[in-house]
Formats: sequence, C-alpha cells, structure tokens
Amino acid sequence: MTQSLTIRRPDDWHLHLRDGAMMAAVLPETARHFGRAIVMPNLVPPVVRGDDAAAYRERILAALPEGATFQPLMTLYMTETTDPEDVRAAAASGLVTAVKLYPAGATTNSHSGVRDFDKVRGVLEVMAEIGLPMCVHGEVTNHDVDIFDREAVFIETVLDPLRRATPGLRVVMEHITTRDGVNYVRSQEDMGGTITTHHLIINRNHILVGGIKPHYYCLPVAKREEHRLALVEAATSGDAHFFLGTDSAPHPDHLKEHACGCAGVFSATNTMSCLAEVLETAGALDKLEAFASLNGPAFYRLAPNPDTITLTKGDPVAYPAKFPVGEDHVTLFDPGFPLHWRVED
Ligand code: NCD
Ligand code: ZN
Ligand code: ZN
Repeated sequence: MTQSLTIRRPDDWHLHLRDGAMMAAVLPETARHFGRAIVMPNLVPPVVRGDDAAAYRERILAALPEGATFQPLMTLYMTETTDPEDVRAAAASGLVTAVKLYPAGATTNSHSGVRDFDKVRGVLEVMAEIGLPMCVHGEVTNHDVDIFDREAVFIETVLDPLRRATPGLRVVMEHITTRDGVNYVRSQEDMGGTITTHHLIINRNHILVGGIKPHYYCLPVAKREEHRLALVEAATSGDAHFFLGTDSAPHPDHLKEHACGCAGVFSATNTMSCLAEVLETAGALDKLEAFASLNGPAFYRLAPNPDTITLTKGDPVAYPAKFPVGEDHVTLFDPGFPLHWRVED
C-alpha cells in the first residue's frame, strides 16, 4: 500500500534566487513545489530601494516557467543609508514583505550591511510602527568570537538589546543553528525562527570528518549534534514560532570547490523529500504541514496557500546530483540517506 500525505502547499520563508543564468536554473526548482518564497536581497549590487525590488521582482516573474503560480515575496537589504520613507512606501504598496538585516561581513554579499546599529534606528522605528518584519542573519562578526559561537553571542549582545530598544519590532531570526537560537525564539513574542533543511540533517562532523565537504559549508555553519537535535525538536513541535526557510543558496561548483569556498547549500529541489524523511524518522510527519505550510504565513499575517500538494512514499527518489548553469554546475544538497517521499506532479 502506498502511504500518502496531503498538505497545504508549502512556502519557503528564506530563499536565494540570484539573478541571470543562475536564477533561470534554480527558479523552476522552487516554483515546482512552493507557493511563495521570501526572496533574499543579497545580489551584487544588493536590492536596497523599493525600485530595485520592483525591478528584481519583474525579472523573477519573467523567468518563471509557463503556468507557474509561484509568488516571490520581496525584501529590501538594509544599509546604513537606507531611507525609512522608502521602506515605508515599499511596504505600503505591498511590494515588500520584509527587510533583511545583514551584519556587515557576516555572510555572502553582506559587505553593504550594517556596522553601526545607531545608523538604522529610524528604519527600525518605521518598521516597528508599520509591523514590517525584519529578517536577521544572526551572527556577530568580531574576529575574536569563535565561528561556532557567533550565533549565541549575537543573540545576547546584539539581537536582544536591539529588540528591547525597539518595542513592537517583529523579527525573524533566520536559519537558526543552535539550541540557544531555539530557546530564544521560543521564549519571545513578535518573533519567528526559520530552520533550513540542511541544518535539520547535518552537524559539523558532516562537513569535516573524512575530508572537507565544501557543499555542506554554509553560514551559519552547522554546529554539534546536540544543536541539530534541538532544531529537529523545534521543527517537529508544531510551535508556531518555527517555520521552514530553506536558505537554498546556489553557488557555481567552481566557487564551492575552491581553496576559499563560498558559503551556501542548494536544496530547493529535494527539500520536501528531505523534510518528510526527517519528520517521519522523528515520528512527527503530522507536523510537516505546520512547519512548511502554516506557521510561516501565520507569522507574516498571510493566508496559507489555497491549494495542496501530495507526497507519496515508495522506492527511493533519484534526484539529479547537479544542475547545469552556463558552463558550470550547481550541486544539489545530498542528505546522505535515501529519500522515499516524493511530491506528486
Ligand atoms: C547565503 C548566500 O549564499 O547568499 N549563504 C549561506 O551560507 N547561507 C547567505 C546567507 O543566507 O547567509
Ligand atoms: Zn544568512
Ligand atoms: Zn540565506
């Protein structure tokens, strides 16, 4: 007997679509299963003003496969010179769904991010006033803080003080990777936390034991197993604070397999299969819909998607290992175990 599971169509609350040839290669992979996605603004140059977001949105819509109903939800990249009134106007017109805060230097294309948080006071106040969420890459960048501690230190020294100073600001702590992140998000009002597919599956051993695996390198870097277990517990708890943000972040193979390989894992294609496998193993397949399809829209004050997808369980699914992008390829996340659940067409 085939096992099957029908859930509301999922959304991806943290996604990198890039631009040009890369976007053309990866967009169909997301549009196949997901109704909507929060599209990250860390292009080169970044998506800073409302006008930039409108133009990027048009490029995404133009690159969609025929008949796709996928809806990109746009974000603005916060800089120290972001104009609060531009943010207000972009939100009022419905063009943007969130503003993204990158601490300068924390991750891929974050050099235009924020160094001095006093310079963005005005933007944060407008966002709190109009209820526009701030998505945060939550890591400090101080050279004296160990890379595995950067998320926990950020919560204590940056995020919590910033939230206390800005009552009413709605914050999504993106791609949480630690028990500290789980505990903090869970204990706060006006907060959500996204969890990626790969952080539910890999710990830091997967990156480093038996040879360095550049395709498992992303930021925040995967932590110890105890932290992965905390993420699985959060994703399977049904707690509305936690929702799926794949952080699917494609880079061409030559930049991943490099002496200084860049950060990002591409997981759009097999995310739903991976999640079903992980949640089933945790005895919590019944929580897949809350995590992937319901908790995110609830945080963003949007309705869940009107339609559904059906997953069926059978023989392991064979996904392509790589996708061509121009002369190069992008490598798909390898969970390291067979995937038995597939999304029906
Ligand atoms: C992301 C990217 O490549 O844009 N990389 C990553 O490792 N997660 C940036 C980010 O989300 O931090
Ligand atoms: Zn990030
Ligand atoms: Zn990201």
